[in-house]
Amino acid sequence: MRIIVTGGAGYIGSHTVLQLLEHGHDVAVYDNLSNSSPVSLERVQELAGREVRTTWGDLLDVEALDDFFDGFEADAVVHFAGLKAVGESTKIPHQYYVNNVVGTLNLLAAMKKHSMESLVFSSSATVYDPQNPLPLLEDMRRGATNPYGRTKQQIEEILEDVAASDSSWRIAVLRYFNPVGAHESGRIGEDPVGPPNNLVPFVSQVAVGVRPSVRVFGDDYDTPDGTGVRDYIHVVDLAAGHLAALEYLESHSGLFTWNLGTGRGTSVLEVIRAFAEAAGKPVPYEIVERRPGDVAVSLADPSKALRELGWKAVRPFELMCADHWRWQESNPQGYPST
Ligand code: NAD
Ligand code: UFG
Repeated sequence: MRIIVTGGAGYIGSHTVLQLLEHGHDVAVYDNLSNSSPVSLERVQELAGREVRTTWGDLLDVEALDDFFDGFEADAVVHFAGLKAVGESTKIPHQYYVNNVVGTLNLLAAMKKHSMESLVFSSSATVYDPQNPLPLLEDMRRGATNPYGRTKQQIEEILEDVAASDSSWRIAVLRYFNPVGAHESGRIGEDPVGPPNNLVPFVSQVAVGVRPSVRVFGDDYDTPDGTGVRDYIHVVDLAAGHLAALEYLESHSGLFTWNLGTGRGTSVLEVIRAFAEAAGKPVPYEIVERRPGDVAVSLADPSKALRELGWKAVRPFELMCADHWRWQESNPQGYPST
């Protein structure tokens, strides 16, 4: 297949582009580099021994987007491009709605104009209403609690309306749980700008000595050790989910939603212990106040993806830590600046 990947220079995008190339697909990336480095795709090309077409452009630049679509006739689009920091989204919500929602509307218009109607969209477990019972199933209530999550929820609703209006659309909505880890080579991985918001990149930077200690946000939750429990998924397993979804869309029209998680929960303290084990050094931490907006537990029921896509996350948490650590240790400052 010929695949367009928006946001393909980013963390999950770069891992997915690599797998697409390894499976023989031709890939064209469109990314504005607002949260990524061009080095990620240089390394992806080295690893795959194949080339990616790259265009550094913004989804909000309608003309550039149109030119990009004119230059690459694709069978499907995988849409990662978006802003993703929950805390930041509460400070600059307008930018989040414009970038994520308007960016997606522009993408849909360009696709329709070029008669490309197959789309895989990066959604998030954050769209679920926190009052839902656990584990989370795809047909449970939505009720995002922050602007970032609401951009994902609104995009899901837009995609549902679009698919209902015209049976030529084929759309996969993938709700990711907590992606961590890196490619086994240690050449590509997550490279957050500034202090990481997410637990595993933070723990990893403490282990490598960039930061002194981890702040554990609360130990009084209703969980076995009192700290928050999440469903961490290896980014390589997550990337494989996109290939499975693309394959499914080849023979199905309409809109489909799948959780991509493992169904297994790991607490903050378990993450710190497992990471210290993988890194072979202690990871200092202190217990501090709860972080506003956090839920005690987030856990996927991933059985629908197994049933319908034949996809299952297979990499254990220890491997997520080992792979994340290999990337961090060999790139302590992330990608080199260009
Ligand atoms: P990332 O920031 O590493 O990648 C996103 C990429 O999109 C970046 O390369 C960025 O430069 C690009 N981008 C952003 N806005 C753009 C625009 N207007 N035009 C063109 N390019 C643009 O993030 P990631 O972790 O790889 O996440 C990918 C997607 O998955 C995002 O949509 C994110 O919301 C979603 N998601 C991520 C997580 C997670 O924890 N990482 C969880 C659930 C969902
Ligand atoms: N945590 C700490 N210290 C830190 C960072 C996090 O104790 O420095 C705790 C949190 O309180 C939580 C757990 O570690 O209990 C995981 O937190 P993350 O920030 O890593 O992940 P979240 O589940 O809060 O959110 C992430 C993404 C969201 C996405 C969601 C579901 O940030 O964008 O996963 O996919 F929507």
